[in-house]
Amino acid sequence: MSTADAELIASSLVFHKVGSAEALRNGEPIGAKVGDQAVAVFLVDDDIIATEGICPHATGPLHEGEVEGRVLTCPWHGWSFDLDSGVCVDDPCLHLKRFPVQVKGDDILVGL
Ligand code: FES
Repeated sequence: MSTADAELIASSLVFHKVGSAEALRNGEPIGAKVGDQAVAVFLVDDDIIATEGICPHATGPLHEGEVEGRVLTCPWHGWSFDLDSGVCVDDPCLHLKRFPVQVKGDDILVGL
């Protein structure tokens, strides 16, 4: 994808408030819905990472998962996902969608 294509996609996104930065800093991942899209947001080191909120294995709630290092483990059956790439460690054919994030004041916004 060219830089121009990436900029065009970014400019067509709408950013939605999904939670607060303070909650993330207090160790509370965000689980939210924007329309039909479930979203999960994690603070990993100093990075805020937003992914789809429903596990592609069998619909587990990913915001309730455990994050260790930069790997998220689903609470239902323990499958793990690399949060940087979205790729499932247990089945590389599966991956999580990731979404761009903006922070405005204390608001966390996710672009869809
Ligand atoms: S629902 Fe997530 S590992 Fe099964």
